[in-house]
Amino acid sequence: MIADHTGASHAAILGIGSYRPSRVIPNSEVVEAIDSSDEWIQQRSGIKQRRWAAPDETVQVMSVAAARSALDRAGVAPEQIDCVIVATVTHLLQTPAVATAIAHELGTQQAAAFDISAACAGFCHGVALAADMVRAGSAGHALVIGVERLSDLTDLHDRGTAFIFADGAGAAVIGPSDTPGIGPVVWGSDGEQFDLIRQKEDWRDVVGNDEKPGSGVMPHLVMLGNPVFRWASFTMAKTAQQALDRAGISIDELDVFVPHQANMRIIDAMARSMKLPERVKIARDIAEMGNTSAASVPLALDRMIAEGEAKSGDTALLIAFGAGLAYAAQVVTVP
Ligand SMILES: CC(C)(COP(=O)(O)OP(=O)(O)OC[C@H]1O[C@@H](n2cnc3c(N)ncnc32)[C@H](O)[C@@H]1OP(=O)(O)O)[C@@H](O)C(=O)NCCC(=O)NCCS
Repeated sequence: MIADHTGASHAAILGIGSYRPSRVIPNSEVVEAIDSSDEWIQQRSGIKQRRWAAPDETVQVMSVAAARSALDRAGVAPEQIDCVIVATVTHLLQTPAVATAIAHELGTQQAAAFDISAACAGFCHGVALAADMVRAGSAGHALVIGVERLSDLTDLHDRGTAFIFADGAGAAVIGPSDTPGIGPVVWGSDGEQFDLIRQKEDWRDVVGNDEKPGSGVMPHLVMLGNPVFRWASFTMAKTAQQALDRAGISIDELDVFVPHQANMRIIDAMARSMKLPERVKIARDIAEMGNTSAASVPLALDRMIAEGEAKSGDTALLIAFGAGLAYAAQVVTVP
């Protein structure tokens, strides 16, 4: 008979860390190319500024910085990490996974390392995988990183995306716990809406062939904003409620709500639809960071911890959604 392994009774987030690129880009710097205004952007999205990475702030550099901070706060050494999961859509090498280079630079003992592609929902997917690994015994501790350099794939002349997408990294160390710290994930995908947010063309079209010359330009991300807006505002509140129900947490027991930072109006619509009590603290990092895709949830949670809005032991609801359309939500205990 094949021997099986068993893991910890429960898993929890032991530490969160993040990295914000140094270059702050106010709305005034993006409006001219898209014939827009600071007022329009703030009113329609809640975004006041975003950060775009400098050339030396690579996906790997930002990830390692966020991960070191999360490891420090968790009191976990790199050698204790058995698996590194990196959620990103902006590591611009098809292979190998950037997670392998990050695991090496951090000084893990050849930890398992792979990237996942679930766009803006990637971090919450990673947390679900890591929690299951810790409980099943395939990892003692796992590191989940959400990182993006969306500025590389954004068309600065596209009115629907240029003011939204931004850069950054967030990380979480997941490990064993005496009590449940990560609730059941509620996740899924709606591939019927595959084309709503996507890379404009595939690499073969960029390169071209003898019959059809390639475009030769970076394949930007394109988005049909309005249907995404409606889908997120109406459908995702139900998914968030399901995550609370699956965790057995009533809305009165919730302290913190950390939705994907896509648009302030989506955040408000979800909060209204879920009838969140006023005392529940809501992440609003989008005002200063824009939409950083896979990095947005850990960046937002880390800010709330730093500013005292989320305290250790608080019960937080995480939900993320985006291209695919893919989504994932879970209740966690704030480390
Ligand atoms: C992108 C987004 C802010 C646009 O807001 P919207 O209210 O849907 O805007 P619309 O596209 O319907 O356009 C409304 C009007 O503003 C104009 N407009 C569009 N982009 C503009 C811009 N950047 N600046 C100024 N005006 C703009 C349009 O031309 C249109 O004008 P009209 O009414 O005269 O035709 C919004 O759709 C959104 O946030 N979507 C979700 C995005 C998201 O969350 N994506 C990531 C998910 S992971």
